Amino acid sequence: MEMRGARILVPGATGRIGSALVERLHALGARPALAGRDPDTLARVSARSGHAPARTFEAWDLDACARTVDWAAAELGGLDGVVVCVGVAAFGPAPEVSDAVAEHLTAVNALAPMAFLRAAAPQVTEGGVLAAVTGVVAEAAPARMADYAAAKAALATWLTAVRREQRRRGVSVLEINLPHMDTGFAARAVRGEAPRLPRGLPVEEAVDAVVAALSDGARLVRPGTPGPLEVVR
Ligand SMILES: NC(=O)c1ccc[n+]([C@@H]2O[C@H](COP(=O)([O-])OP(=O)(O)OC[C@H]3O[C@@H](n4cnc5c(N)ncnc54)[C@H](OP(=O)(O)O)[C@@H]3O)[C@@H](O)[C@H]2O)c1
Repeated sequence: MEMRGARILVPGATGRIGSALVERLHALGARPALAGRDPDTLARVSARSGHAPARTFEAWDLDACARTVDWAAAELGGLDGVVVCVGVAAFGPAPEVSDAVAEHLTAVNALAPMAFLRAAAPQVTEGGVLAAVTGVVAEAAPARMADYAAAKAALATWLTAVRREQRRRGVSVLEINLPHMDTGFAARAVRGEAPRLPRGLPVEEAVDAVVAALSDGARLVRPGTPGPLEVVR
């Protein structure tokens, strides 16, 4: 995908990774549309990104996720890509995590990203990209993170299947499989406390890799070599 002029919706544009990505897209001459939950942060990120169009949404409301895709396509005059950066964690042994928290994690980490990309798939044409952030927990399945890891694994599997569906249309489906990042994400968990974690990767590493992957039509960003993140075509 040519970044200059690319019309890209970023749900989770209020988060550390999403906001840094939006600002980079704007700097590269792309045309981001921003979707986030917190209206004040959303307005600040929009102002830093050439007053890009912005709209609030709540991930629980899957219809609103789909409507946000239609809104973005109308604002931008079409859609070349969607990069979902929404997520929330919870910590604790599975029997101590309530079903309500499990439902919350599944909605935010799996169902909402799927709803955004499901609505976007028919609108994105050849050369476009459907992307979402998963995480290494999907495969590592660490103790005390069962529901977060399971939701990310569900999203990763969904992306793999949709990639097979979209190949014939020439639409790339990108999984952004990140390790621990230096964003304070774990401290914003809806339940429990994170284990002691080493310092995470700088956000700019993720943004560099995502932009390279979008440009290349890649299918995967993951921890690798020679840098901390590798882009797999
Ligand atoms: N940081 C890490 O170590 C790490 C590692 C692997 C994967 N990831 C993934 O990377 C992505 C971005 O995380 P981040 O590190 O940038 O964390 P972050 O700053 O906490 O961003 C999380 C984003 O999700 C949004 N969000 C959470 N719950 C929501 C809800 N109910 N409705 C709508 N939006 C909601 C937040 O919106 P508001 O801020 O507007 O509330 C924010 O935009 C997530 O998918 C996360 O799972 C992070």
